[in-house]
Amino acid sequence: MPLSSTSEKGSKPSQPQASFGFRCIGCGLVTAAAAQDFRCSECGNLLEITDSSWNSRNPTVLKTLWRERRSLNASLDLSGVWRFRELLPAPASEQHVVTLREGNTPLYELRQSSRSIGIPRLYAKHQGMNPTGSFKDTGMTVAATFARQAGYRWVACASTGNTSASMAAYAARGGMRSLVLVPEGKISWSKLSQALDYGALTCQLRTDFDGCLRLLQELVRQAPVYQLNSINPFRLEGQKTLAFELMEQLDWQPPDHIIVPGGNLGNSSAIGKALLEMLDLRLIARLPKLSVIQAEGANALVRTLREGGGKRLVSVQAETRATAIRIGNPASWEKAVKVLQATGGVCEQVSELEIAQAKAEIGAEGIGCEPASAVTLAGLKKLLRQGFVKPEETVVLVLTGNLLKDPDFTMGFHRGDLLRESARLNPFRHPPVVLDASLDAVIKTLEQAEKSDPPHSNA
Ligand code: F0G
Repeated sequence: MPLSSTSEKGSKPSQPQASFGFRCIGCGLVTAAAAQDFRCSECGNLLEITDSSWNSRNPTVLKTLWRERRSLNASLDLSGVWRFRELLPAPASEQHVVTLREGNTPLYELRQSSRSIGIPRLYAKHQGMNPTGSFKDTGMTVAATFARQAGYRWVACASTGNTSASMAAYAARGGMRSLVLVPEGKISWSKLSQALDYGALTCQLRTDFDGCLRLLQELVRQAPVYQLNSINPFRLEGQKTLAFELMEQLDWQPPDHIIVPGGNLGNSSAIGKALLEMLDLRLIARLPKLSVIQAEGANALVRTLREGGGKRLVSVQAETRATAIRIGNPASWEKAVKVLQATGGVCEQVSELEIAQAKAEIGAEGIGCEPASAVTLAGLKKLLRQGFVKPEETVVLVLTGNLLKDPDFTMGFHRGDLLRESARLNPFRHPPVVLDASLDAVIKTLEQAEKSDPPHSNA
Protein backbone atom coordinates (compact mmCIF):
# COMPACT_ATOMS: atom_id res chain seq x y z
CA MET A 1 0.00 0.00 0.00
CA PRO A 2 1.54 3.35 -0.97
CA LEU A 3 1.85 5.93 1.78
CA SER A 4 -0.83 8.55 1.52
CA SER A 5 -0.68 12.00 3.05
CA THR A 6 -4.40 12.08 3.67
CA SER A 7 -6.15 10.66 6.68
CA GLU A 8 -8.11 7.44 6.61
CA LYS A 9 -11.23 9.53 6.56
CA GLY A 10 -9.98 10.97 3.29
CA SER A 11 -9.64 14.63 4.29
CA LYS A 12 -7.17 16.68 2.22
CA PRO A 13 -4.13 18.32 3.80
CA SER A 14 -5.49 21.77 4.50
CA GLN A 15 -3.83 25.20 4.43
CA PRO A 16 -6.00 27.27 6.76
CA GLN A 17 -5.49 31.00 7.00
CA ALA A 18 -3.45 31.41 10.15
CA SER A 19 -2.22 34.50 11.95
CA PHE A 20 1.13 32.87 12.69
CA GLY A 21 4.12 32.36 10.43
CA PHE A 22 7.50 30.61 10.43
CA ARG A 23 10.64 32.69 10.99
CA CYS A 24 14.10 31.34 10.20
CA ILE A 25 16.40 31.71 13.21
CA GLY A 26 19.37 32.17 10.81
CA CYS A 27 18.38 34.58 8.02
CA GLY A 28 15.11 35.86 9.52
CA LEU A 29 12.99 34.95 6.48
CA VAL A 30 9.30 34.74 7.45
CA THR A 31 7.00 32.41 5.53
CA ALA A 32 3.36 31.39 5.87
CA ALA A 33 4.07 27.67 5.44
CA ALA A 34 6.92 25.29 6.27
CA ALA A 35 8.36 22.38 4.32
CA GLN A 36 8.19 18.83 5.73
CA ASP A 37 11.69 19.06 7.17
CA PHE A 38 10.87 22.34 9.00
CA ARG A 39 14.00 24.01 7.65
CA CYS A 40 14.39 27.40 5.99
CA SER A 41 14.06 27.17 2.21
CA GLU A 42 16.79 29.84 1.84
CA CYS A 43 19.52 28.92 4.33
CA GLY A 44 18.48 25.54 5.78
CA ASN A 45 18.40 26.72 9.41
CA LEU A 46 15.63 25.93 11.93
CA LEU A 47 12.32 27.77 12.06
CA GLU A 48 10.43 29.29 14.94
CA ILE A 49 6.81 30.34 15.12
CA THR A 50 5.93 33.99 15.26
CA ASP A 51 2.53 35.61 15.60
CA SER A 52 1.95 39.36 15.53
CA SER A 53 -1.34 38.99 17.44
CA TRP A 54 0.61 37.96 20.56
CA ASN A 55 2.08 41.45 20.98
CA SER A 56 -1.30 43.12 21.35
CA ARG A 57 -2.42 41.02 24.32
CA ASN A 58 -3.14 42.73 27.62
CA PRO A 59 -1.14 41.05 30.41
CA THR A 60 -3.69 41.69 33.15
CA VAL A 61 -6.53 40.29 31.05
CA LEU A 62 -4.43 37.23 30.19
CA LYS A 63 -3.57 36.48 33.82
CA THR A 64 -7.21 36.61 34.86
CA LEU A 65 -8.43 34.59 31.88
CA TRP A 66 -5.83 31.84 32.37
CA ARG A 67 -6.61 31.53 36.06
CA GLU A 68 -10.38 31.45 35.49
CA ARG A 69 -10.03 28.60 33.02
CA ARG A 70 -8.67 26.37 35.77
CA SER A 71 -12.19 26.07 37.16
CA LEU A 72 -13.84 25.35 33.79
CA ASN A 73 -14.60 21.97 32.28
CA ALA A 74 -14.33 22.59 28.54
CA SER A 75 -11.80 20.26 26.93
CA LEU A 76 -9.37 23.03 25.96
CA ASP A 77 -9.53 24.65 29.38
CA LEU A 78 -8.75 21.36 31.13
CA SER A 79 -5.46 21.18 29.26
CA GLY A 80 -2.58 22.96 30.96
CA VAL A 81 -1.30 23.79 27.49
CA TRP A 82 -4.39 25.04 25.64
CA ARG A 83 -5.38 27.04 28.73
CA PHE A 84 -2.67 29.43 27.49
CA ARG A 85 -3.89 29.42 23.87
CA GLU A 86 -3.68 33.20 23.41
CA LEU A 87 0.12 32.78 23.13
CA LEU A 88 0.05 29.61 21.01
CA PRO A 89 -0.50 29.11 17.28
CA ALA A 90 -4.23 28.71 16.77
CA PRO A 91 -5.57 25.62 14.98
CA ALA A 92 -8.25 26.26 12.34
CA SER A 93 -10.83 24.58 14.54
CA GLU A 94 -11.00 23.28 18.10
CA GLN A 95 -12.13 19.97 16.57
CA HIS A 96 -8.56 19.29 15.50
CA VAL A 97 -7.09 19.54 19.00
CA VAL A 98 -5.55 16.30 20.29
CA THR A 99 -5.27 16.51 24.07
CA LEU A 100 -4.71 14.18 27.01
CA ARG A 101 -5.07 16.97 29.62
CA GLU A 102 -1.37 17.60 29.66
CA GLY A 103 0.35 20.32 31.67
CA ASN A 104 -1.00 21.66 34.99
CA THR A 105 1.99 19.98 36.63
CA PRO A 106 2.97 20.54 40.27
CA LEU A 107 5.60 22.92 41.56
CA TYR A 108 7.14 21.29 44.62
CA GLU A 109 9.38 22.73 47.30
CA LEU A 110 12.52 20.58 47.59
CA ARG A 111 12.78 20.88 51.37
CA GLN A 112 15.53 18.35 52.09
CA SER A 113 17.80 19.43 49.26
CA SER A 114 17.10 23.02 50.15
CA ARG A 115 18.41 22.40 53.69
CA SER A 116 21.35 20.25 52.68
CA ILE A 117 22.72 22.57 50.01
CA GLY A 118 21.71 25.80 51.71
CA ILE A 119 19.23 27.40 49.32
CA PRO A 120 16.07 28.30 51.22
CA ARG A 121 13.95 28.82 48.10
CA LEU A 122 14.40 25.74 45.93
CA TYR A 123 11.57 24.32 43.80
CA ALA A 124 11.02 21.53 41.30
CA LYS A 125 8.61 21.94 38.41
CA HIS A 126 7.73 18.30 37.77
CA GLN A 127 6.98 17.70 34.11
CA GLY A 128 7.18 13.99 34.78
CA MET A 129 3.60 14.32 36.06
CA ASN A 130 2.30 14.66 32.49
CA PRO A 131 0.04 11.95 30.98
CA THR A 132 2.85 9.86 29.47
CA GLY A 133 5.32 10.76 32.20
CA SER A 134 7.46 13.44 30.57
CA PHE A 135 7.52 17.07 29.44
CA LYS A 136 7.14 15.93 25.83
CA ASP A 137 3.35 15.86 26.17
CA THR A 138 3.08 19.64 26.39
CA GLY A 139 4.67 20.01 22.97
CA MET A 140 3.09 16.94 21.49
CA THR A 141 -0.47 18.13 22.00
CA VAL A 142 0.23 21.18 19.81
CA ALA A 143 2.28 19.42 17.12
CA ALA A 144 -0.10 16.44 16.90
CA THR A 145 -2.98 18.88 16.53
CA PHE A 146 -1.35 20.52 13.53
CA ALA A 147 -0.45 17.11 12.05
CA ARG A 148 -4.09 16.10 12.29
CA GLN A 149 -5.27 19.43 10.93
CA ALA A 150 -2.97 18.99 7.90
CA GLY A 151 -4.53 15.58 7.30
CA TYR A 152 -1.43 13.45 7.86
CA ARG A 153 -1.95 9.73 8.22
CA TRP A 154 1.56 9.03 9.58
CA VAL A 155 3.62 10.89 12.16
CA ALA A 156 7.21 9.96 13.04
CA CYS A 157 10.05 10.74 15.38
CA ALA A 158 13.55 9.72 16.36
CA SER A 159 13.82 9.37 20.10
CA THR A 160 15.75 8.45 23.20
CA GLY A 161 12.41 7.16 24.49
CA ASN A 162 10.19 9.89 25.87
CA THR A 163 9.33 11.60 22.60
CA SER A 164 8.34 8.25 21.13
CA ALA A 165 6.14 7.37 24.10
CA SER A 166 4.43 10.74 23.92
CA MET A 167 4.08 10.81 20.14
CA ALA A 168 2.62 7.30 20.06
CA ALA A 169 -0.01 8.25 22.65
CA TYR A 170 -1.06 11.48 20.94
CA ALA A 171 -1.10 9.85 17.50
CA ALA A 172 -3.36 7.14 18.85
CA ARG A 173 -5.69 9.71 20.41
CA GLY A 174 -5.71 11.71 17.18
CA GLY A 175 -6.43 8.74 14.92
CA MET A 176 -3.01 8.82 13.23
CA ARG A 177 -0.42 6.09 12.82
CA SER A 178 3.04 6.57 14.29
CA LEU A 179 6.53 5.49 13.30
CA VAL A 180 9.20 5.42 16.00
CA LEU A 181 12.95 5.27 15.33
CA VAL A 182 14.98 4.49 18.45
CA PRO A 183 18.59 3.43 19.01
CA GLU A 184 18.66 -0.30 19.67
CA GLY A 185 19.52 -1.22 23.26
CA LYS A 186 19.92 2.41 24.35
CA ILE A 187 16.48 3.33 25.62
CA SER A 188 14.69 2.14 28.73
CA TRP A 189 12.19 -0.71 28.44
CA SER A 190 9.66 1.40 30.23
CA LYS A 191 9.64 4.02 27.46
CA LEU A 192 9.80 1.43 24.68
CA SER A 193 6.87 -0.45 26.18
CA GLN A 194 4.77 2.71 26.14
CA ALA A 195 5.29 3.13 22.39
CA LEU A 196 4.35 -0.51 21.82
CA ASP A 197 1.22 -0.26 23.91
CA TYR A 198 0.07 2.92 22.16
CA GLY A 199 0.35 1.05 18.87
CA ALA A 200 3.42 2.64 17.25
CA LEU A 201 5.36 0.94 14.48
CA THR A 202 8.58 0.78 16.47
CA CYS A 203 11.95 0.38 14.72
CA GLN A 204 15.03 -0.23 16.87
CA LEU A 205 17.87 0.96 14.65
CA ARG A 206 21.48 -0.17 15.02
CA THR A 207 22.77 3.34 15.58
CA ASP A 208 22.55 6.09 18.20
CA PHE A 209 19.90 8.84 18.59
CA ASP A 210 21.82 11.15 16.27
CA GLY A 211 21.80 8.44 13.59
CA CYS A 212 18.04 7.95 14.04
CA LEU A 213 17.40 11.69 13.68
CA ARG A 214 19.52 11.93 10.52
CA LEU A 215 17.55 9.11 8.97
CA LEU A 216 14.22 10.64 9.98
CA GLN A 217 15.13 13.93 8.34
CA GLU A 218 15.86 12.11 5.09
CA LEU A 219 12.63 10.15 5.40
CA VAL A 220 10.36 13.19 5.77
CA ARG A 221 11.81 14.66 2.58
CA GLN A 222 10.75 11.58 0.67
CA ALA A 223 7.58 10.30 2.30
CA PRO A 224 4.39 12.03 3.45
CA VAL A 225 5.26 11.51 7.08
CA TYR A 226 4.88 14.33 9.57
CA GLN A 227 7.96 14.92 11.70
CA LEU A 228 7.30 15.24 15.43
CA ASN A 229 10.82 15.83 16.76
CA SER A 230 11.55 19.13 18.45
CA ILE A 231 12.84 20.44 15.11
CA ASN A 232 9.10 20.83 14.54
CA PRO A 233 8.47 24.34 15.93
CA PHE A 234 4.90 23.51 17.00
CA ARG A 235 6.41 21.22 19.64
CA LEU A 236 8.34 24.10 21.15
CA GLU A 237 5.24 26.29 21.23
CA GLY A 238 3.50 23.77 23.47
CA GLN A 239 6.59 23.42 25.64
CA LYS A 240 6.53 27.20 26.23
CA THR A 241 3.56 26.66 28.55
CA LEU A 242 5.86 25.19 31.22
CA ALA A 243 7.16 28.72 31.72
CA PHE A 244 3.72 30.38 31.62
CA GLU A 245 2.39 27.94 34.18
CA LEU A 246 5.48 28.25 36.38
CA MET A 247 5.17 32.04 36.53
CA GLU A 248 1.49 31.72 37.36
CA GLN A 249 2.36 29.31 40.20
CA LEU A 250 4.86 31.88 41.50
CA ASP A 251 2.27 34.67 41.28
CA TRP A 252 4.19 36.16 38.35
CA GLN A 253 7.27 36.80 40.48
CA PRO A 254 10.07 35.30 38.37
CA PRO A 255 12.65 33.14 40.16
CA ASP A 256 16.31 34.11 39.81
CA HIS A 257 17.24 30.85 38.08
CA ILE A 258 15.57 28.15 36.03
CA ILE A 259 17.73 25.07 35.50
CA VAL A 260 16.90 22.54 32.82
CA PRO A 261 18.55 19.38 31.43
CA GLY A 262 19.93 19.64 27.90
CA GLY A 263 19.79 16.94 25.22
CA ASN A 264 18.56 17.92 21.78
CA LEU A 265 18.03 21.40 23.32
CA GLY A 266 14.42 21.87 22.29
CA ASN A 267 13.12 22.32 25.82
CA SER A 268 15.60 24.98 26.88
CA SER A 269 14.88 26.83 23.61
CA ALA A 270 11.13 26.67 24.24
CA ILE A 271 11.38 27.87 27.85
CA GLY A 272 13.68 30.70 26.77
CA LYS A 273 11.29 31.76 23.99
CA ALA A 274 8.43 31.83 26.48
CA LEU A 275 10.43 33.94 28.95
CA LEU A 276 11.34 36.49 26.28
CA GLU A 277 7.75 36.67 25.04
CA MET A 278 6.47 37.13 28.60
CA LEU A 279 8.93 39.95 29.18
CA ASP A 280 7.89 41.64 25.91
CA LEU A 281 4.26 41.43 26.95
CA ARG A 282 5.04 42.61 30.50
CA LEU A 283 3.62 39.43 31.98
CA ILE A 284 6.87 39.42 33.97
CA ALA A 285 9.03 42.36 34.93
CA ARG A 286 12.43 40.66 34.63
CA LEU A 287 14.05 37.58 33.16
CA PRO A 288 15.19 34.61 35.23
CA LYS A 289 18.57 33.22 34.20
CA LEU A 290 17.98 30.04 32.22
CA SER A 291 20.81 27.50 32.58
CA VAL A 292 21.29 24.13 30.89
CA ILE A 293 22.96 21.10 32.47
CA GLN A 294 24.34 18.20 30.45
CA ALA A 295 25.93 14.87 31.31
CA GLU A 296 29.73 14.97 30.98
CA GLY A 297 29.57 12.25 28.33
CA ALA A 298 26.99 14.11 26.24
CA ASN A 299 28.25 17.66 26.59
CA ALA A 300 27.91 19.11 23.09
CA LEU A 301 26.50 22.44 24.28
CA VAL A 302 29.14 22.84 26.99
CA ARG A 303 31.85 22.36 24.36
CA THR A 304 30.04 24.47 21.77
CA LEU A 305 30.13 27.39 24.20
CA ARG A 306 33.64 26.79 25.57
CA GLU A 307 35.47 25.72 22.42
CA GLY A 308 33.24 27.12 19.68
CA GLY A 309 32.34 30.42 21.38
CA GLY A 310 28.69 29.53 20.75
CA LYS A 311 29.27 30.09 17.03
CA ARG A 312 29.77 26.55 15.74
CA LEU A 313 28.46 23.23 17.00
CA VAL A 314 31.04 20.97 18.62
CA SER A 315 29.38 17.57 18.41
CA VAL A 316 30.42 14.60 20.54
CA GLN A 317 30.08 10.82 20.56
CA ALA A 318 27.54 10.72 23.37
CA GLU A 319 27.71 8.24 26.26
CA THR A 320 25.81 8.47 29.54
CA ARG A 321 23.55 6.30 31.69
CA ALA A 322 21.05 9.15 31.57
CA THR A 323 19.88 7.73 28.25
CA ALA A 324 17.24 10.42 27.66
CA ILE A 325 20.02 12.94 27.04
CA ARG A 326 22.46 10.62 25.28
CA ILE A 327 22.67 13.03 22.35
CA GLY A 328 25.87 14.26 20.70
CA ASN A 329 24.61 16.44 17.88
CA PRO A 330 21.80 18.59 19.31
CA ALA A 331 19.49 19.95 16.62
CA SER A 332 18.42 23.11 18.47
CA TRP A 333 21.88 24.21 19.65
CA GLU A 334 21.64 27.65 18.04
CA LYS A 335 18.26 28.36 19.59
CA ALA A 336 19.62 27.30 22.98
CA VAL A 337 22.74 29.46 22.68
CA LYS A 338 20.53 32.46 21.90
CA VAL A 339 18.26 32.03 24.92
CA LEU A 340 21.15 31.36 27.28
CA GLN A 341 22.79 34.57 26.11
CA ALA A 342 19.52 36.54 26.25
CA THR A 343 18.75 35.48 29.82
CA GLY A 344 22.32 35.46 31.13
CA GLY A 345 22.31 31.73 31.88
CA VAL A 346 25.18 29.25 31.60
CA CYS A 347 25.76 25.66 30.57
CA GLU A 348 27.45 23.15 32.91
CA GLN A 349 28.18 19.46 32.90
CA VAL A 350 27.93 16.84 35.66
CA SER A 351 29.40 13.37 36.16
CA GLU A 352 27.59 10.04 36.24
CA LEU A 353 28.22 9.85 39.97
CA GLU A 354 26.79 13.30 40.58
CA ILE A 355 23.69 12.41 38.52
CA ALA A 356 23.10 9.17 40.44
CA GLN A 357 23.43 10.89 43.81
CA ALA A 358 21.15 13.77 42.84
CA LYS A 359 18.53 11.35 41.55
CA ALA A 360 18.59 9.45 44.86
CA GLU A 361 18.25 12.72 46.78
CA ILE A 362 15.22 13.81 44.74
CA GLY A 363 13.74 10.34 45.25
CA ALA A 364 14.32 10.55 49.01
CA GLU A 365 12.09 13.66 49.06
CA GLY A 366 9.19 11.50 47.87
CA ILE A 367 9.26 13.15 44.47
CA GLY A 368 11.53 11.11 42.23
CA CYS A 369 12.55 11.63 38.63
CA GLU A 370 14.48 9.92 35.88
CA PRO A 371 18.28 10.25 35.66
CA ALA A 372 18.24 12.95 32.96
CA SER A 373 16.11 15.19 35.18
CA ALA A 374 18.47 14.78 38.13
CA VAL A 375 21.26 16.59 36.28
CA THR A 376 19.49 19.77 37.35
CA LEU A 377 20.10 19.26 41.07
CA ALA A 378 23.65 18.04 40.42
CA GLY A 379 24.24 21.10 38.23
CA LEU A 380 22.79 23.47 40.81
CA LYS A 381 25.31 22.24 43.41
CA LYS A 382 28.09 23.00 40.96
CA LEU A 383 26.73 26.44 40.06
CA LEU A 384 26.47 27.24 43.78
CA ARG A 385 30.09 26.24 44.36
CA GLN A 386 31.10 28.44 41.43
CA GLY A 387 29.16 31.38 42.90
CA PHE A 388 26.93 31.71 39.82
CA VAL A 389 23.90 30.87 41.98
CA LYS A 390 23.75 32.69 45.32
CA PRO A 391 22.21 31.03 48.40
CA GLU A 392 19.63 33.81 48.81
CA GLU A 393 18.32 33.39 45.27
CA THR A 394 15.17 31.52 44.18
CA VAL A 395 15.85 28.49 42.01
CA VAL A 396 13.51 26.29 39.99
CA LEU A 397 14.70 22.92 38.70
CA VAL A 398 12.80 21.47 35.76
CA LEU A 399 12.27 17.75 36.32
CA THR A 400 11.57 16.43 32.85
CA GLY A 401 10.67 12.77 33.39
CA ASN A 402 8.95 10.52 35.91
CA LEU A 403 10.84 8.15 38.23
CA LEU A 404 9.04 5.17 36.64
CA LYS A 405 10.60 5.91 33.26
CA ASP A 406 13.84 4.11 34.06
CA PRO A 407 13.39 1.39 36.71
CA ASP A 408 16.58 -0.42 35.61
CA PHE A 409 18.68 2.57 36.62
CA THR A 410 16.90 2.88 39.95
CA MET A 411 17.13 -0.82 40.78
CA GLY A 412 20.77 -0.97 39.67
CA PHE A 413 21.57 2.02 41.87
CA HIS A 414 19.89 0.74 45.04
CA ARG A 415 21.11 -2.82 44.64
CA GLY A 416 24.63 -1.47 44.27
CA ASP A 417 25.24 -2.79 40.74
CA LEU A 418 25.42 0.69 39.24
CA LEU A 419 28.59 2.70 40.02
CA ARG A 420 29.55 -0.11 42.41
CA GLU A 421 33.04 1.33 42.95
CA SER A 422 31.70 4.64 44.27
CA ALA A 423 31.54 4.16 48.04
CA ARG A 424 30.36 7.77 48.36
CA LEU A 425 26.99 6.68 47.00
CA ASN A 426 26.45 3.90 49.55
CA PRO A 427 24.61 6.07 52.10
CA PHE A 428 22.06 6.90 49.39
CA ARG A 429 21.33 3.31 48.43
CA HIS A 430 18.22 1.61 49.82
CA PRO A 431 18.53 -1.99 48.68
CA PRO A 432 15.61 -4.38 49.15
CA VAL A 433 16.10 -6.83 52.02
CA VAL A 434 15.27 -10.51 51.53
CA LEU A 435 14.11 -12.15 54.79
CA ASP A 436 12.43 -15.23 56.10
CA ALA A 437 8.73 -14.54 56.51
CA SER A 438 8.93 -14.22 60.31
CA LEU A 439 7.89 -11.40 62.62
CA ASP A 440 11.21 -11.65 64.40
CA ALA A 441 13.20 -11.06 61.22
CA VAL A 442 11.11 -8.03 60.25
CA ILE A 443 11.36 -6.47 63.72
CA LYS A 444 15.16 -6.93 63.82
CA THR A 445 15.45 -5.28 60.41
CA LEU A 446 13.26 -2.42 61.58
CA GLU A 447 15.42 -1.90 64.67
CA GLN A 448 18.60 -1.87 62.60
CA ALA A 449 17.10 0.67 60.20
CA GLU A 450 16.04 2.87 63.11
CA LYS A 451 19.68 3.11 64.24
CA SER A 452 20.95 4.37 60.87
CA ASP A 453 20.08 7.97 59.99
CA PRO A 454 19.05 8.85 56.45
CA PRO A 455 21.93 10.61 54.65
CA HIS A 456 22.24 14.38 54.37
CA SER A 457 24.53 15.66 51.69
CA ASN A 458 26.39 18.90 51.44
CA ALA A 459 28.16 17.87 48.27
N1 F0G B 1 14.96 15.05 29.98
C1 F0G B 1 14.29 14.01 29.47
C2 F0G B 1 13.61 13.09 30.44
C3 F0G B 1 14.25 13.79 28.09
O1 F0G B 1 13.56 12.76 27.60
C4 F0G B 1 14.93 14.68 27.23
C5 F0G B 1 14.93 14.48 25.79
C6 F0G B 1 15.60 15.76 27.82
C7 F0G B 1 15.59 15.92 29.19
C8 F0G B 1 16.31 16.76 27.01
O2 F0G B 1 15.42 17.65 26.41
O3 F0G B 1 16.12 17.29 24.07
O4 F0G B 1 14.64 19.18 24.70
O5 F0G B 1 17.05 19.15 25.38
N2 F0G B 1 14.46 13.47 25.22
C9 F0G B 1 14.28 13.33 23.77
C10 F0G B 1 13.51 12.07 23.44
C11 F0G B 1 15.40 13.65 22.92
O6 F0G B 1 13.65 11.56 22.33
O7 F0G B 1 12.73 11.64 24.26
P1 F0G B 1 15.85 18.37 25.05
